[in-house]
Order: sequence, then C-alpha cells, then structure tokens
Amino acid sequence: MDYSRKIAERLWNLPEKGELESHREETFIDDIVQKSHIEHELLASLDGIKTVFDGGAGCGRFSILLAKQGCQVTHFDISQPMIEKARELAKKAGVLDRITFVKGALEDLSAYADHAFDLVMSFDAPISYTYPNQEEVIGELVRIAKKRIILSVSSRLGYLPYLANPLQKNQFILNQDCEDSWVQWSIAHRQEMVDSFFFDKAGIEKLWADGLMGGEAEIAEYEQGGAPWCITYTFLPGELKELLEHFGVKNVRLAGPGAYARTIPNELLVKIMKDPKQRVDFLEVCYQYDSNPYVCGMGKDNLLAKGEL
Ligand SMILES: C[S@@+](CC[C@H](N)C(=O)[O-])C[C@H]1O[C@@H](n2cnc3c(N)ncnc32)[C@H](O)[C@@H]1O
Repeated sequence: MDYSRKIAERLWNLPEKGELESHREETFIDDIVQKSHIEHELLASLDGIKTVFDGGAGCGRFSILLAKQGCQVTHFDISQPMIEKARELAKKAGVLDRITFVKGALEDLSAYADHAFDLVMSFDAPISYTYPNQEEVIGELVRIAKKRIILSVSSRLGYLPYLANPLQKNQFILNQDCEDSWVQWSIAHRQEMVDSFFFDKAGIEKLWADGLMGGEAEIAEYEQGGAPWCITYTFLPGELKELLEHFGVKNVRLAGPGAYARTIPNELLVKIMKDPKQRVDFLEVCYQYDSNPYVCGMGKDNLLAKGEL
C-alpha cells in the first residue's frame, strides 16, 4: 500500500480527530470563509440532485447540509472517529435516515457503479492526500458521477506563499483566548517562528516543480510509529481543469476560496467576524470575489472546481 494512504489512515484515525475537526469553524477565520464558500456553491447547485456521494466527508459539514436539503447522501471517509462524529451530528440534525456512512479509502471506489450518484463531491483536500493516485481518484470520482462534480483540492499557488510565511495561521485566529491547542501553539511560538525563519528558495522551487508537500521525513516518522501530516499533492489550476476535461467533465469552473480574506490583517478580520451583519456581508463578498477564476490559484490553500457531466 502507498505510504500516503497508510499515513492518512493513521493520522485521521487518531481518536481526537473527529472532535477537533468539528470545531474548525470556531477557531480559524480562513476555515469559516472556505466552508462558507463551499456551502454557497452547493446550495446553488442542487437542481435535479437527489443522490450525493461525499468523498472524505469528515465530520459531515456538507453531507449533513445536503441531507437537510432532502438529498440521499453517501458519507464516505477513511476515518472511524470522523464517521462517529458525523453520525452524532446527523442524529442531532434529524437526518440519520438520509445518510449512509461508509468507511473506505478514495483509492478504491470499485464498489460503486458508473453514474451512481447525481452529485459527487469531495472537499478540503482528501484527493490531495491520495498521492500518487490523485489522477486515478479524480477519474473514479467522475466515473461514479451522473450530473455534477464539485471538488476542492490543495492548491500549489495557494501554498507557495505560505512557505515564506510561517505565521499564516496567526492571521486567521478568531479568538486568542480559546483553548484549541493549534491556536495556543501558534500564539506561543509566534516569535520563535520569526526568529528561526529563513527564505528557503530551494524548498519553494521544489514545491513549484513537483507539487509535493511532505515525503521522506513523513515516511520516517510514520515508520517510527508517529502520525505525521499527510503527504499532500498540490494542484495547479490549469492541471486540475485539464484533468477533469480529460475525464469528460464539461463547463469546468475554478474558484479560490479564501483569496479575498488573505489580503486582510487579523485585527480587521476579527472585527468583521464579531459583528453579525458585517460577517454575513463579508462572506457574501468573499464568495463573489473568490469565485472569479482569475484569483482561483490564490485561495487559502484550496482550489475548487465545479463541472457538469
Ligand atoms: C480536512 S478533512 C475535510 C472534511 C470535509 N470534507 C470538510 O470539508 O469538512 C479531510 C477528510 O478526508 C479524509 N480522508 C483523508 N484521506 C482519505 C482517503 N484516502 N480516502 C477517504 N477519506 C480520506 C479524512 O479522514 C478527513 O475526514
């Protein structure tokens, strides 16, 4: 089995993962913007959609949303803790009967027939964690789709500036006092990250050339029993579009959720987010701006694609 899959399996099956992921939108503003963008996109894409496949569905942020809209959803994920959290949230939302939970890896979708689902979706990078099989996985997701496909994958142009900015997450902290361990770590290590920073042109050029975040160090950590971050394949916009077209997807449109928010400092983002009216207005403007294909590469770290079959 590929290391990427083994690493993803171990990382996402850590017991605390489901609980942590379900709170992402309470801790980081970039996650709020990104999830809000996907929600907007989905709610505008439901004409003629009755059945849905959500690949790497996590704790159900979008599978539950679409079940609430009356769709019959297959919630597919490699992680049991994520599925358990999603089941709990689906029960609370009263939509358990509209969701089928399946534990599985995107690398094997052979259980599903061609055109089995009206809408196939996969958000926030599960496809990028299937390296070196990401192209086959996209082909398989297209194969099981009947009408529409909406995906978000890791973005190479989105990630490259982060290699010159270890403080990336600090910009998006919603509440400095919250107990989330990532928030507290980012605050505590801010100065250390600046002091130890150097501009690593070679590292940037490597990511530019091969699109890979992670590799040998993650494999070594895994072999020693650790649970490193997934080896992640980052896509270029043209590459993703061509790939989808190659598999027969039409009218492919790209977007870059998070591109607008990236331009705003933390103090102002927090001010906007804490005011209910400004927050709604801001998320609307982000959606409009980030939907412009000319900014798609500069999304937070995800590249979104939507197309028809
Ligand atoms: C960042 S979360 C995104 C969850 C959800 N799609 C969302 O947008 O809120 C990534 C999810 O992909 C799942 N995942 C990672 N690798 C996978 C694989 N090879 N096959 C299926 N699921 C995978 C993880 O377990 C996790 O739930």
